Amino acid sequence: MSKFTLKWGILATGGIAETFARDLWPNPECRGVKDIEHKVVAAASSSSKKRAEDFLKEVRGVEDAKAYGSYEELVKDPNVDIIYVATPHSHHYQNARLCLEGGKNVLCEKAFTSNAPQLEKLIEIAKEKNLFLMEAVWTRYFPLSIYVRDVITSGKIGTVSRTSADLSMHMVPEKTFDDSHRMVNPDLAGGALLDLGIYSLTWIFQTLYTTQKEPKAPSSVLSAMRKYKLGTDEQTSMLLTFPATSDRGEAHGIATTGMRTSADPDGKGTAGPSIRVQGEEGEIQIYHPAFRPTKTKLVLKDGTVEEKDWPQPGPGKGSGWKNGFGGSFQPEGEGQGMFWEADECAHALKEGRKEGKYESLQESLEIMRVMDKVREQNEMKLPEKIETLEYPTKL
Ligand SMILES: NC(=O)c1ccc[n+]([C@@H]2O[C@H](COP(=O)([O-])OP(=O)(O)OC[C@H]3O[C@@H](n4cnc5c(N)ncnc54)[C@H](OP(=O)(O)O)[C@@H]3O)[C@@H](O)[C@H]2O)c1
Repeated sequence: MSKFTLKWGILATGGIAETFARDLWPNPECRGVKDIEHKVVAAASSSSKKRAEDFLKEVRGVEDAKAYGSYEELVKDPNVDIIYVATPHSHHYQNARLCLEGGKNVLCEKAFTSNAPQLEKLIEIAKEKNLFLMEAVWTRYFPLSIYVRDVITSGKIGTVSRTSADLSMHMVPEKTFDDSHRMVNPDLAGGALLDLGIYSLTWIFQTLYTTQKEPKAPSSVLSAMRKYKLGTDEQTSMLLTFPATSDRGEAHGIATTGMRTSADPDGKGTAGPSIRVQGEEGEIQIYHPAFRPTKTKLVLKDGTVEEKDWPQPGPGKGSGWKNGFGGSFQPEGEGQGMFWEADECAHALKEGRKEGKYESLQESLEIMRVMDKVREQNEMKLPEKIETLEYPTKL
């Protein structure tokens, strides 16, 4: 059987762009995926061609990939099937729109855009041009996430009425970031909510919304926010209410995020799970970190306890290959896990689908609307040029 090859263009050369491009190297067969393969064919930097060339040197197996010194050139490359947008959130709308307007399919990093109207516009353009568009919430595509959703829909823990999810990372902002850093800088749409809180919301949504029968009901939200000196948030707490549906009563989601506390203070899981999905017959627990969990525990009323480990696959020891993010690496031969979302892009394009299987564009939009509401409730504004629908806008 001949394989479907997806040819990737990487837009931006920062931390996550490198992690993602590296994760495209292992043969998908090492994770049981036999019908597709990935190839990085080009990368672009907004600063210089040299920067893109240096970036490609850090990635295995991309010797013949092209390097571009502008995003515009990448979009014009006819050899590129899909572009992975890996700029700061502030730039996603402008950059993803550039790709879509240029006729390219797009996988865009989280948070999808700065606000919901921007995402509505991207969806409209993708539909008009019949292009694939997906938010790069990699966690959704992990076998672990599929298992958790299956536990819920199978009825094993009974009717679910509450999920709590925390992604707090101890990185005291005034000690960790200078004011220009994308984690805190309003000009780069900084703050805990859009960067980390999106994962807490992902767990609330994939357990209380994705698992609903159609038609799905969106949630309302109440929130509190502690601001950093620059006006972006350093800690945010959200209470979501999903109304009763035909198959379930009202359900509540408690999503928290922050930069001063940690969901896993000793790094060993001693503090317990950071995510709990609770039903009438028991619960399923997921351990920190919410973006790349590797351990679950199912606890049922009848005394059943089922612990599972979910290591990420890869080419294994002896391969001389490593991946990771932010200076910390997984053991030799173990993937980061970003390939699952890449595989979903390949399968979607092979099958002619225009959105992701486990997070519809409608769901991404509902989450974006929740984040807009939370920012509105707490008067967290971003600069006009970041929130605008005007295109092109120079940032
Ligand atoms: N899925 C995950 O696990 C994960 C982890 C971390 C981050 N992310 C997401 O990925 C995105 C990028 O994060 P990152 O940590 O990779 O950021 P980063 O290391 O700061 O890289 C961002 C890149 O964007 C490009 N860029 C264009 N205009 C820029 C500007 N005005 N300021 C800064 N950079 C600019 C730069 O590349 P060029 O100069 O080459 O154009 C830069 O290297 C964010 O949306 C973040 O939420 C996801």
